[in-house]
Parts: sequence; structure tokens; C-alpha cells
Amino acid sequence: MIITEDNKKKDSPFRFKEINGITVNTDFIPILELNGLLNFQKIMNFDEGKLYRENKRHRVSGINLKDSSGKNHLLFLKRHRLTVNEMLRSLFNRGNAESGHNEWDKILLFHSIGIPTMVPIAYGEIQRWSLPWVSMTITENINNAVSLEQFIPDNFSGKLSAENVALKRNITLELASIVRRLHDRGLNHQDLYLCHFFIRTDPFKIFMIDLQRVNQRNRISYGRKVKDLAQLYYSSTVLKGINRSDRLRFFKSYLKTDRLRKADTRLIKMIKLKSNRISRHTDKIYGMVSDRQK
Ligand SMILES: Nc1ncnc2c1ncn2[C@@H]1O[C@H](COP(=O)(O)OP(=O)(O)OP(=O)(O)O)[C@@H](O)[C@H]1O
Ligand SMILES: [Mg+2]
Repeated sequence: MIITEDNKKKDSPFRFKEINGITVNTDFIPILELNGLLNFQKIMNFDEGKLYRENKRHRVSGINLKDSSGKNHLLFLKRHRLTVNEMLRSLFNRGNAESGHNEWDKILLFHSIGIPTMVPIAYGEIQRWSLPWVSMTITENINNAVSLEQFIPDNFSGKLSAENVALKRNITLELASIVRRLHDRGLNHQDLYLCHFFIRTDPFKIFMIDLQRVNQRNRISYGRKVKDLAQLYYSSTVLKGINRSDRLRFFKSYLKTDRLRKADTRLIKMIKLKSNRISRHTDKIYGMVSDRQK
């Protein structure tokens, strides 16, 4: 559901307006207007900025816009296009479409349930078969933060100071708390790698990004839980700076237990098996890339 001024959730910290085909966070109307971007088509056609990702389904660009005082603001523009397969899957209720609409919806949901994520700036879509066939989101850069994929090896490789031991412990416990809260609400991220967690150290806060695949059901199934946890487990094994006791601390905190029970060890075994499959799949993809580069 898109939240507008007429249709506002009491707990949302944001105010939105519908202008020229976009739903826009009212705090960002001046900067978008000043840069000629208060219009859906203009945003879709915008071809400046740094390209972060591009594939046949979406394109992510970091764009720098100046405000009226000349200050630069980094925003992220994510443009999506659904494939026919994805539209059919979604129409027949075989999963949610990985669209900008889903990402926007989940950004608002995460804010309303207290899971830190990106600040939503603007959303727009063109529908086909009542689905968001083409869609876009603009979010604000998470300022003074870096991804855990970068932060962990930079700070936790080699011998650690007492301060860094404590920081690593806090990160582990915070990750466990975020993932448990998601799963308790029937939410699964489906792209739960450490690159999608951002950390700000002062004051300490962990944010989640890339919410386009987040799915919500009444209850998360065992298989979906294993999949999320295996993605996180896998990404913890490919980074320098995370060890077995960090992983154990994570699981105990996620499972809210001091001692692993039989069901817990079984769950961890399933997660490791799935993580091995992710690893083989990833090796295959990288293998294909390096073959192509030969
Ligand atoms: N609001 C934001 N703040 C900071 N960085 C962001 C933000 N939005 C996107 N990024 C950066 O852009 C990258 C790509 O965005 P995102 O992960 O949402 O797209 P993606 O196409 O799904 O990427 P992939 O599928 O490769 O994970 C992120 O990994 C992150 O580095
Ligand atoms: Mg991503």
C-alpha cells in the first residue's frame, strides 16, 4: 500500500504527496523540484549519476543533487522492469513480484516496525495487468554508514582491541535481533547477505537495504527461514573477521537460548547444507564469469 497524506499510517514518520505521477516525501519536494525531477518520466529518463548495478530487471544509480544552499545530497535511484514470467507468477500468487512497489512497501513497513532502513524519497510506477510493470524508488543515501561487507574485514581482521571485540559482539547481537524480529513477523528478506546491512558507528545503528524481494506471510516456513539464515551464514564464511564463536553467538541469540537443543542443532545443520549449495552455485557463477573473461 502506498501511503499518501489522505491515507497515512499513524506511526509513519514521513509525509507523502502525489505529484506528477510520483508519491513523494514532502521533505524532498524542494530538492527534486530544483533539479527538475519532480516528475515520473523525467526520473525514468534521468541518465546522470554513478551506476551501481544493472541487469535486465533493474538498474541502480547513485545521484548527486544540490539543494538551494548548494549542498550536495546523494540519493539512490532504483528502476525496475518486471519480466512477463514474473508478472505471471505474481498474478497466479506464486510469490510477490520483485518490483519497486514491493521495495517501497517494505521500506515503509520496516520503518513502522522499527527496523532501520533507507529513508524513502519517491515512488512511481506504470501498471500493466494491474501490476507495477515499470517502477522506480528513490531513497536517501544512508549517511555516515558503510556495508558490513566492507566494515567487518576492515575492522575485525587480525588481533582485535577490547573496543573492537565489544563492537563485533554488539553487531552480532544486533544482527540476530533484526533477523529474529523479521522472522517473528513472517517476513523473509531473501537476499540476506552482509552487503545488505549498513552500519553507522556513532551512534551505533544497523540498517537494512535492498528490500525488493522481502516477502511477508502469516508465518515464515522452515524452508524460508533456512534460506535466509543460510545466505547470512554463507556471507559470514567468505569475509575475513568472522569466526565460529561469532556464528555460535549469533545463533544462540537468534534462537534465544544459552544451550542449543536438538531442534536447534538440526536447524544449524540444514543452514550449513544450504550454505554449501549457495557456495557451489556462487562458484559456478564466478566460474562462468571468469570463463567469459578468458
Ligand atoms: N539508500 C542507499 N544507501 C546507501 N547505499 C545504497 C542505497 N541504495 C542502494 N545502495 C547501494 O547500491 C547497491 C545496489 O543496490 P541494491 O542492493 O538495492 O540493488 P540490487 O540491484 O538488488 O543489487 P544486488 O542484486 O546486486 O544485490 C547496494 O549494494 C548499495 O551499495
Ligand atoms: Mg543488492
